[in-house]
Amino acid sequence: MSTLEVRNLVKEFKVRDGLRRSTLRAVNDVSFTLSAGRTVAVVGESGSGKSTVARMIAQLETPTSGEILLDDAAIGRRGRALADYRHQVQMVFQDPFASLNPYHSVEHHLARPLKLHGVARGKDVLPAVYGLLERVNLTPAPVFAEKRPHEMSGGQRQRIAIARALAPGARFLVADEPVSMLDVSIRLGVLNLLARLQREENLGVLYITHDLATARHFSDEIVVMYRGDVVEQGPSDEVILDPQHDYTKTLLAAAPEPSRHGRLRDEVRAELAAG
Ligand SMILES: Nc1ncnc2c1ncn2[C@@H]1O[C@H](COP(=O)(O)OP(=O)(O)OP(=O)(O)O)[C@@H](O)[C@H]1O
Ligand SMILES: [Mg+2]
Repeated sequence: MSTLEVRNLVKEFKVRDGLRRSTLRAVNDVSFTLSAGRTVAVVGESGSGKSTVARMIAQLETPTSGEILLDDAAIGRRGRALADYRHQVQMVFQDPFASLNPYHSVEHHLARPLKLHGVARGKDVLPAVYGLLERVNLTPAPVFAEKRPHEMSGGQRQRIAIARALAPGARFLVADEPVSMLDVSIRLGVLNLLARLQREENLGVLYITHDLATARHFSDEIVVMYRGDVVEQGPSDEVILDPQHDYTKTLLAAAPEPSRHGRLRDEVRAELAAG
């Protein structure tokens, strides 16, 4: 089975502290495995290092030490091996508006990665764009292909960002708080889309979030980070129902009361049942 694994990842940043320069260890020692067809949630308070882990996995930051392995092979730092890795591991950011160019159409946004990564060319590009739009439920595809970012809702824009991540043939998506900037009413729709892709297309999803309720519902496993370390990890229900680490208990105590979790889970279930 296809896997994306991080082993003992460490990231240090040089920071200026008044006149002195010092080192900030944003990620201390992080290890976990994400398999195809699974969702792993990373939760933790602000500043715990979640995005830094995501950015290292997406190759936007170089780890200070540690390894990232795709299908058991350490990833190459350049050339073809790195290009292959980038096809397969793609990132979805928190703010879809910031990652889309207001002057370009949806077609442009999706055609570009298809051509750049050699997935489609010539007369095959437009049907491939339509195919991507259908995979993220933006239909009729020809109508959405002509829109520009400001002509769509936040949820639709995030679907475009997901389609763009899928374009190179991604097998793993690293989604860093993909719904936290969206209106509450459309969050579930986007999370359900990720869940469907994970289920039907065997995608591996790393879901970074502050929201324990959706982490529990949408992920098979939860990794809890605290000040750069993984303090607890395990099957989602176990971590939520029987937390072992004091920090996880604090995090749960700070989350909305359990009845709200129950209600959200019912809502999610109803939506999933509705397809
Ligand atoms: N490029 C950088 N240079 C210096 N420090 C950084 C850099 N990127 C992140 N940090 C620091 O590393 C720590 C972890 O940041 P990170 O963004 O990974 O946290 P996070 O868990 O994603 O937080 P949030 O939930 O607020 O998004 C923070 O103290 C942050 O200030
Ligand atoms: Mg972050």
